[in-house]
Amino acid sequence: ACPQSFVFFVFGASGDLAKKKIYPTLWWLYRDGFLPEHICFVGYARSQLTIEKIFQNADKYMKVHDHERDLYKKFLELNHYVCGSYDKSEDFDKLNHEANKISQHTSAHRFFYLALPPSVYGSVSELISTHCRPGAPGWVRLIVEKPFGKDLQSSNILSGHLSKFYAEEEIYRIDHYLGKEMVQNIMVLRFSNRIFSRVWNRDSVAAVKIIFKEDIGTQGRGGYFDEFGIIRDVIQNHLMQILSIVAMEKPRSTTGEDIRDEKVKVLRCIAPIKSENVVIGQYLGDKESKDSERQLGYLDDAGVPKDSTTPTYAQTILYINNERWDGVPFILRAGKALNEKKAEIRIQFRDVPGGMFDENGSKAPLARDELVVRIQPDEAIYLKVNTKRPGEMSYSIEETELDLTYNERYRGVKLPDAYERLILDVFMGSRINFVRSDELQEAWRIVDPILTEIDQKKLPVVPYKFGAAGLPQAFDAAVKHGYVFTGTYVRKDERSA
Ligand code: BG6
Repeated sequence: ACPQSFVFFVFGASGDLAKKKIYPTLWWLYRDGFLPEHICFVGYARSQLTIEKIFQNADKYMKVHDHERDLYKKFLELNHYVCGSYDKSEDFDKLNHEANKISQHTSAHRFFYLALPPSVYGSVSELISTHCRPGAPGWVRLIVEKPFGKDLQSSNILSGHLSKFYAEEEIYRIDHYLGKEMVQNIMVLRFSNRIFSRVWNRDSVAAVKIIFKEDIGTQGRGGYFDEFGIIRDVIQNHLMQILSIVAMEKPRSTTGEDIRDEKVKVLRCIAPIKSENVVIGQYLGDKESKDSERQLGYLDDAGVPKDSTTPTYAQTILYINNERWDGVPFILRAGKALNEKKAEIRIQFRDVPGGMFDENGSKAPLARDELVVRIQPDEAIYLKVNTKRPGEMSYSIEETELDLTYNERYRGVKLPDAYERLILDVFMGSRINFVRSDELQEAWRIVDPILTEIDQKKLPVVPYKFGAAGLPQAFDAAVKHGYVFTGTYVRKDERSA
């Protein structure tokens, strides 16, 4: 019998995402021997292009080393390009025909990656299903990127449309944060260490913070961003996904459905965010900065209307109404144009009861323990703890950390890019790291009312300067909800500096 072959379609092959992420990722997976032997790649877009031109444009992202040139040439030979519309049946017939010819198979398994603007998802997904399905035993896997709608209603319409043409098992919704090493590590950390599993609840945890910071502005993406804002762009998807893994009950197994069942269960316990628990902001240029980009505020971005009130920063505080988490604030904070690029999870533990140590003559509460999972940059897990100040003759106490910094402990270990893991997962048929339609729906439900209020301009937008650490209003709100900031801890890399 013929060996099973595969066709990987890249829709939107001429676009930014294809050039920067998808083609490079396919090449790396091919180079590292992860892809099946009988595979070919078919790019599809509206522009009159050639495959050579597409790879020329992508060249600087492919990172081909000299000794890989021969292999790269082989990879290029597996690539093809077809030009056509996103809404005409005959073009999809043609594509189907071409793909059959190229793969020399009418029943090759087919992957369809939609690197497309959401406005054409509907027609493209429909036409793929009606014109480009392979004959048995070939199967289809459809890979889609956010935005999955703009609110609960539009997301449900899109999900409803997809479900008319695809089984849920055929759909792979990408949230690239689920492909990050430290996000994947949360489950292992929680469920393979007794020391954490015993304290992972309201009895011990005072507050949970999930933070995303960027030190760049919208950088020409203002046109897209202005329609969405930071809550849709980062909180509804990336941070809410992290929250669900941090907070879920232990899944029965590591299969995709068991894990996703638990994620959706915990999301169902969250009421829609209330406006009093939200702080939003928008960045202004820092006129004193020497960096010309930092001088520009959000409203200076060419794609942004001059009177836009779209938030580029937001903090939302929500509560999970179940036995494990009742009363514990989950503080989700995301912002662009801040002082640093960082994503992390902070689990702050409650005060030690019954103080016995006499610090400075007063039995002031000790600094709280805090478990920090640093997602990026410099992956690390560290636990802030109190220790006896080394060498002192008395019981004086200082804060330190138990520290697992990856580039020290795992020096030389390469952490694959999120897209490499996720596309490989699609090849393996593993759905663990993809968002199921019910999860998506729950995440929208939680943010939907607050988005309406923001869109109707019912919430004040606090201005902040490019390069700020955050909004004081947001820090104050976190404290009001029970997070304690002592500000005395300095992480070891900063201490030695
Ligand atoms: C994307 C957002 O989903 O994630 C961007 O649309 C954001 O606005 C990006 O910059 C951040 O991803 P990463 O992997 O660089 O943290």
